[in-house]
Amino acid sequence: MHRRGGLARLRLEEHPDPVAGPGEVLIDVAASGVNFADVAVRLGLYASAREYVGWPITPGFEVAGTVGALGAEVRDLAVGDPVIAVTRFGGYASHLVVDRAQVFRKPEALSFEQAAAIPAVYLTAWYALYELAHPRAGQRVLVHSAAGGVGGALVQMAKRSGCEVVAVVGRSEKVAVAHRLGADHVIDKSSDRLWRSAERIAPAGYDVILDANGVATLRASYNHLRRPGKLVVYGFHSMLPKRGGRPSYAKLAVDYLRTPRFSPLDMTDASRSVLAFNLSYLFAERALLHAAMRDIFDWLATGTLVPPPLATYPLADVARAHADIESGTTVGKLVLVP
Ligand SMILES: NC(=O)c1ccc[n+]([C@@H]2O[C@H](COP(=O)([O-])OP(=O)(O)OC[C@H]3O[C@@H](n4cnc5c(N)ncnc54)[C@H](OP(=O)(O)O)[C@@H]3O)[C@@H](O)[C@H]2O)c1
Repeated sequence: MHRRGGLARLRLEEHPDPVAGPGEVLIDVAASGVNFADVAVRLGLYASAREYVGWPITPGFEVAGTVGALGAEVRDLAVGDPVIAVTRFGGYASHLVVDRAQVFRKPEALSFEQAAAIPAVYLTAWYALYELAHPRAGQRVLVHSAAGGVGGALVQMAKRSGCEVVAVVGRSEKVAVAHRLGADHVIDKSSDRLWRSAERIAPAGYDVILDANGVATLRASYNHLRRPGKLVVYGFHSMLPKRGGRPSYAKLAVDYLRTPRFSPLDMTDASRSVLAFNLSYLFAERALLHAAMRDIFDWLATGTLVPPPLATYPLADVARAHADIESGTTVGKLVLVP
């Protein structure tokens, strides 16, 4: 993409293959994960994309494939090894160079498509739950957008921690998906009154609420915490349009102004915390990244976590993948195959 904008900005281009420098790995990509954040990158609304790359930019936070070449000093991998990698952008490509620290051996049981769907959403869920929220067994956790990529990972991980999980979804066909992932209760906000149902299930409120809707639900999420309780904020997708591929700048401005500002005085009095983070800044935190991936691989190996449901698109159809994830109708993950 050479400029921010609509779906037509996504163009497949030929460039010379990148070359692995010292400490780096060239990956022949077999599959690339698509994330809702890539839409924000395309629209020029993603802060770390502006900070680290600017324009032009190739989106994409994650790939799976085989090692194509090794830079000097990389001795613990071999050409041809199947791997997974996280990357701060550039993942929608047939070849990608990344630092060795961002490369992980692919578990044999995962296909390349499944492997490319794992890192971004499971790392996001891991960080939200195990670095920030720390839910205890028996606590009540409410997950918004629970049939999506991150939401589905949150449901599974909160269940593995022994929590009672209330999943919120926006379409009736997602109800069964959330139940299959392990949710104890599913609220379909397209037909149920979201907060009335949430109050019926947890009259005293929730120990943890995970919210990437932004302005549409943030204030109500905060108000539905127990005392003590934690709200983890990790996205703002309700600011964006579901069709057309372009934001309304008037809506963005109004939503920005309407986004709640939480007062430390009130949070202290109410014993409610608001926590927030952006995964793309964590890829450089090697110890944390490796601890998280180790847990995720262990839990996948034991069946405590399962890979998300997948929809696969040819890389050349990336605009269709963006249109689909923007529409809010997808479940699980979308994957591009070059
Ligand atoms: N902070 C971080 O580091 C981080 C990392 C990864 C992802 N995220 C954020 O987490 C959220 C989920 O990401 P994902 O990749 O897993 O996507 P996803 O959940 O697979 O898809 C987005 C979901 O959000 C809901 N949604 C609500 N309002 C929407 C709107 N106006 N447009 C489109 N969808 C809307 C839809 O589900 P329902 O209608 O069922 O609610 C939709 O399926 C995104 O906001 C993303 O930016 C943040």
